[in-house]
Amino acid sequence: MPDYRRLLREKRIEKGISQYQLAEMSGMTQSHINKIENGIANPSLDILFKLCEILEIRLFPDEVKSRPVYTPRVTSMVCESILDAIGYTPMIRLSRMGSPDAAQVIVKYEGLNVGGSIKTRTAYNMILEGERSGKITSETIIVEPTSGNQGIGLALIGAVRGYRTVIIMPDSVSEERRLLVSHYGAEVVLIHDDGDIGACIAECLATAKRMARENPHVYIPQQFTNPANPMVHKHHTALEILEQVAGPIDGFCSGVGTGGTISGIGEVLRALNPGIEIWAVEPEHAAILAGGNIGTHLQMGIGDGLIPDNLNRTIYSDICIVTDEEAIATARDLARKEGLMCGISSGTNVAAALRLARKLGPGKTVVTVLPDTAERYFSTPLFEDPKA
Ligand SMILES: Cc1ncc(COP(=O)(O)O)c(C=O)c1O
Repeated sequence: MPDYRRLLREKRIEKGISQYQLAEMSGMTQSHINKIENGIANPSLDILFKLCEILEIRLFPDEVKSRPVYTPRVTSMVCESILDAIGYTPMIRLSRMGSPDAAQVIVKYEGLNVGGSIKTRTAYNMILEGERSGKITSETIIVEPTSGNQGIGLALIGAVRGYRTVIIMPDSVSEERRLLVSHYGAEVVLIHDDGDIGACIAECLATAKRMARENPHVYIPQQFTNPANPMVHKHHTALEILEQVAGPIDGFCSGVGTGGTISGIGEVLRALNPGIEIWAVEPEHAAILAGGNIGTHLQMGIGDGLIPDNLNRTIYSDICIVTDEEAIATARDLARKEGLMCGISSGTNVAAALRLARKLGPGKTVVTVLPDTAERYFSTPLFEDPKA
């Protein structure tokens, strides 16, 4: 299957439309059409949607017809609230960690997102959907079982939108995460993790459900099953990646927490390039997709010991297992060699991306995400002196 640029050209020729005619029909110049077809220029998404419409190409999954959900970040305006600044995080090519014998690796740095993680996107979209559908009203109490970042995101949105928010989390998550949730004004309920993270997450969920039975105002967004989670990655994160990366994307990998990131981004990237290699990444001691045993591990946010409903299990072509040591060493390298302050699961993703880059070889492009900032890991082994 050809890259989408080749597909545009093939369809145009098949329909007997010249570059000049297509330029007229789409309101662009012939030279721009030529540059897009030859990979010299990147179409904006609005232009890409338009070209697909004219040439009757179904490049995107059906539900990705336009850019809905929330306003893109515009740095030259005053935002009505912090929520207007969500998204549009930078993408950075790894320059010192990459190798000339491997594909280039480009990372989307979600540590710079509002709230310091990718989860502000999903929190916002789940709340927006809840409001739209009438499940959330001014009296709603938002209660979510989460191992961390989703709680911070929901606490942030709850603060701006004025909802009482309760976050239920394992006591094994870093202290910074608990403090951040409280600092946004949300309540924290801790559940003991005695070494089986899957059992602990199940108990967090059971506690939330008990609260919902006892109080009709309780709404549980349920990031593991809520379709608004992967949807925001289809409508935003994936489209941002396409706009930012010039040329074809040959590989993508992501750790699996709720599965929202890999499914949402993966579905759009695969729609554009069915030959893309997509890897699901798992911690060594929670490699449930690979059929491994579930224990406890340090790669917070992924490897929760369950197979989430929001994971599209047909989207990845392989599974990559990363040890805690490799994840931490890679996260440290990201700070020390690339100036990228990011969390442990970012190390997981990049460790896998570097392997994928070696497999695909020079001239190819691998994309991954850095889900959060390092600044919520001060109390974890990420910040222990490796030489001490
Ligand atoms: C630090 C971190 N990394 C990765 C993920 C995984 O993302 P997803 O839930 O979309 O699979 C999460 C999710 O909370 C996270 O907090």
